[in-house]
Amino acid sequence: MICIPVADTATRDAFRSVEKSALHADVIELRMDLIADGDVAQLIAAARRASKSVKIIVTCRRQEESLIPEAGALSQKSMTKAAKMELLKKAVLSGADFIDIELAEGNKAIRQLQSLCRKQKSSTRLIVSWHDISGTPSLTGLKKIFQACAQTGANIVKIVPYARKISDNAKILSLIDYAKKQGRDVIAMCMGEKGKISRVMASSWGSFLTFAVLPGGKSSAPGQMTIRVMREFQHLLHGHERSIEAWYSLPGKSNFVLLGNPVRQSLSPLMHNRALRAMRIDGRYSAFCVSDLESAIAGIRGMNIRGASVTIPFKTAVMGYLDRIDADAAALGAVNTIVNNRGCLIGYNTDWLGLVQALKDEMNIAGETFVILGAGGTARAAAYGIQKEGGQPVIVNRTPEKGRALAARFDCPFYPMADIGKIQAAGLINTTSVGMYPQVDQALIAPAKLARYRTVMDVIYNPLKTKLLRDAEAKGCKIIMGLEMFVRQGGEQLKLWTGREAPLSLLKETVRERLMKFES
Ligand code: ATR
Repeated sequence: MICIPVADTATRDAFRSVEKSALHADVIELRMDLIADGDVAQLIAAARRASKSVKIIVTCRRQEESLIPEAGALSQKSMTKAAKMELLKKAVLSGADFIDIELAEGNKAIRQLQSLCRKQKSSTRLIVSWHDISGTPSLTGLKKIFQACAQTGANIVKIVPYARKISDNAKILSLIDYAKKQGRDVIAMCMGEKGKISRVMASSWGSFLTFAVLPGGKSSAPGQMTIRVMREFQHLLHGHERSIEAWYSLPGKSNFVLLGNPVRQSLSPLMHNRALRAMRIDGRYSAFCVSDLESAIAGIRGMNIRGASVTIPFKTAVMGYLDRIDADAAALGAVNTIVNNRGCLIGYNTDWLGLVQALKDEMNIAGETFVILGAGGTARAAAYGIQKEGGQPVIVNRTPEKGRALAARFDCPFYPMADIGKIQAAGLINTTSVGMYPQVDQALIAPAKLARYRTVMDVIYNPLKTKLLRDAEAKGCKIIMGLEMFVRQGGEQLKLWTGREAPLSLLKETVRERLMKFES
């Protein structure tokens, strides 16, 4: 995750930065020691209004650990410890996702905050941090500091020293490894020019997050790079060809299209146009029923259309007309998203991402087994995503040959429908069309066989709650509706086209409302 610190001294600027950063970052950090007289509750509310998904850290850094940037020192407020504690408590009551307190503030202060969180049944997590603005201790020293932070009962430990030598970055890498082996969440990197490599590598090494700034934004510590540079590094490291740069340089209106056949029933235009309005993007999303795919692709280039969604029956065929294919889409053999980078068309797949994100919001994937019903394109996306997240897919399909072929592709087990009861699994995912409107009273699995699963997910979103999900709910399973996957795959498309977070809750409400009207 990338975190943008909000470090403006003027309150008005801070609000502006919060709104902007919330759309670009995964996390924002409110540096309340730098924001002149900003009200933490109001700043949190502004971030929530700007983005439903952005996480918020509230920090009030001690002067001794304040990370004065190399250029243009920011002025800190002088605050008593009591005032700082009040501020952090207010952050908990205002629903901050994380509060950061330094180890040096002492166990008593840390315990007070923990007990407030418990009393309030708050989901705010505590980051216990340690900074050294003069250098990097030995690895043994860093481990000792890590243990001291961990022993306070911190949810996350943050260790940020200053790199005097390039080799200081290696100590941080070893520290992240050490923390991970203990199953602890850690934020670790080095400050300073020589520590930049650790900022780039932090997430890949396992740091909970890393910091970056908006172009022209105020940094809160030396060595922070812009979010664009950080994202590009991350995507390079992970083999994804994201396209944020081209978006930043695009002038004026941007148009988006859906290519499929048929497209009349698609809810994508409703969802994407609502998102474009909410994101204040000057553009339109239109659906086209395509009979000649090659000409349609030429149209995207010729009319400088920024992005396209691709649906049935073109998800595989379209790959032959694109200039580049992202690594995940290539591995899946299907493209559902095109980004047009000044005439260079790049294909991506967000179906698997949407499914994984919807699932991950409800349960762990790593180490769990999931039954996948079906062996078509959606089943392939599900198996790919589950495996990528460290889970174990098991394929169950009506036609054994197709089921076995998919299972062989992912080197996972296949069971015929009749043997589904023999599988021990935490979740079940239906990727077949059984239960889709108008067959709303059909389901592939008898209700009596559902109680064994913790979670049951259906990729069908019309109806919102399929018979399978209604039965599963009655048996006490957690359920995940297809709507959740649909809006997340759409949100990921918007991110690829614009480099910005989509307002997921709004998208969900928009699609849900339409489907409810349809059902009534
Ligand atoms: P998608 O790309 O949406 O996954 P698909 O490629 O047509 O769609 O795949 C649909 C899957 O649903 C297939 O695995 C199909 O099973 P078969 O392989 O036996 O054809 C499964 N499916 C569709 N209707 C079904 C039904 N009535 N009973 C059981 N499985 C069904």
